[in-house]
Parts: sequence; structure tokens; C-alpha cells
Amino acid sequence: TTPQLLAGKRVVITAGPTVEAIDPVRYLSNHSTGKMGFALARACVAAGADVILIAGGKIALPTPLNVTRIDVLSAKEMLIAAQQCVTGTHSALQYMVEDEHSHDHNHDHNHDHNHEHGHDDYSEEHDNNVNDDSVKVADIFIATAAVADYRTEEAAPQKIKKTQAAMTLSLVKNPDILATISLAHPELFVVGFAAETQDVERYARGKLLSKDLDLIACNDVSRADIGFASDDNAMEVFFSTHYKNDSITLDKASKDKIAEQLTTIIGETIWQ
Ligand code: C5P
Repeated sequence: TTPQLLAGKRVVITAGPTVEAIDPVRYLSNHSTGKMGFALARACVAAGADVILIAGGKIALPTPLNVTRIDVLSAKEMLIAAQQCVTGTHSALQYMVEDEHSHDHNHDHNHDHNHEHGHDDYSEEHDNNVNDDSVKVADIFIATAAVADYRTEEAAPQKIKKTQAAMTLSLVKNPDILATISLAHPELFVVGFAAETQDVERYARGKLLSKDLDLIACNDVSRADIGFASDDNAMEVFFSTHYKNDSITLDKASKDKIAEQLTTIIGETIWQ
């Protein structure tokens, strides 16, 4: 029953936490589960989109059907993957060409087309299609990832020993993936998320402007019943001033339901 509002659109979604190495066995991360991003990936596929899901950290969720999943760990890796996916240059988007050479890549593929067909029957025509597809740029970028704000400048090459009574970790700021992608691609339709505990609207509008977003979906993380690890969410969506809507409230519902509603909002807004 979902209208094919996103038919033919390529959507790139970041999801989950990032993992920032401290040394070979330790890392900094957060409690994000990736559920919202994975639910959005499913909803966008249902709306007809071609979806690439960049999953940070160590997300245990199954890859949604017909989604191209790219696993990364750190914010720096996520930014590089996002830039390559948005511009259509990521190696995972050249799966046919890549598969001809080898299978020893790190990325999980879950393509609905071509990929399952074996490797002996590639015609010139297939290869031409793949080459065209591999440079397809994204139409929509959705940043649900809870990117670590800071990372260690460099991970220690060896396990840090507990010889000192106290120790200090020196951290540097991570790149803002959403702002970087958005500001570099003015034509891309960009959706941000924000988790706030107060002054939700003021902070949301500030981020809409500073990160040059089309939409921002905010949840109030001071509420214990929604957000992060919960299966439910409730959101207030704020629109950039280019659009006729100002804001829309999505009442508490499952993350799947919220994802469907958000996908419809995105679809209706891009066609506006
Ligand atoms: O600034 P703040 O972290 O509240 O912004 C949240 C939004 O920005 C989310 O959409 C999040 O995915 C994105 N973000 C990002 N890279 C960062 C920090 C936030 O993509 N380093």
C-alpha cells in the first residue's frame, strides 16, 4: 500500500554508532543500536528506492532485503564511505566488476539483482549496465548515525598497559559527516536527526541552517520511553524554509511506523 514515492531514487543512510579505537583491544562508542536507520532503509526500499546503508560500529541487526550494506567502524571511515556512496564511486557499488576479480572484500552485499546469478554469464551488456550504475549519484542522504563527537587522535599501536595510577586520553573532534556531505552537495536532499533534551525546536532550527539540511527529525531523549535502544520513537520534523510545511509531529509509534511516516514525508517533500 506504500506509494512508490521514491521510485528510481538512490538513498544513502548512515546508521548506528561509530567505534573509535583507543588501542588494538579497546574503543570509544555509544549505545546507538542502528534500529532507526535500518527501519528507514526498509521503508525506503518499500517506497521504491535503491538504498545504500552505511552501518557503523558493530551492529548485529540483519541486513534489510534489497539493501546494499557497507560496514564501517569509525567516523572517519563512515565519512569516506558516505562521500563515495553519494558520488556513486564506492567499490561496493561496482559489485559486478569487483566480483569478476575476487570475493575477498569486507563489505556485506545483499543485492536483489544480478549479484545472485553466478559469475559465468556476464555479457558485455551487463558490464555496461554496471558501469552506468556505478557512477549513479545519490538523490537523498539520511544521517541517523550517532557519530562519536571525539576520537583518539591516533590509536595506540599496542595494548595500553595498566602501569599508571591514572591516565588521560587525549581526544580530537570528529568530522561532521552530515554537514560535510550536505555542504559539498547542495543538490542532494539531506535529512538530519537530532537527539535533544531541551529547547528541541531552537536547536533543530539551528542545525537545519548550519548543516544546510532540508529536513531534521528530532526526538526528545530525556523521555525514557523512546529513542536509542527502544523499539518506539516519537519525532518532531522541522522543514527548511524552502518548503511549504513548517513542522510535523509524529506521535509515539514503533520505529518501523515512524520510518514509514518519515519516508512518506521525504517523498512528498522532494516532489513538492
Ligand atoms: O550536531 P548533532 O550531533 O546533534 O547532529 C546530529 C545529526 O548530525 C545527525 O543526523 C547525525 O547523524 C549527524 N552527525 C554526523 N556526523 C557527526 C555528528 C553528527 O553525521 N560527527
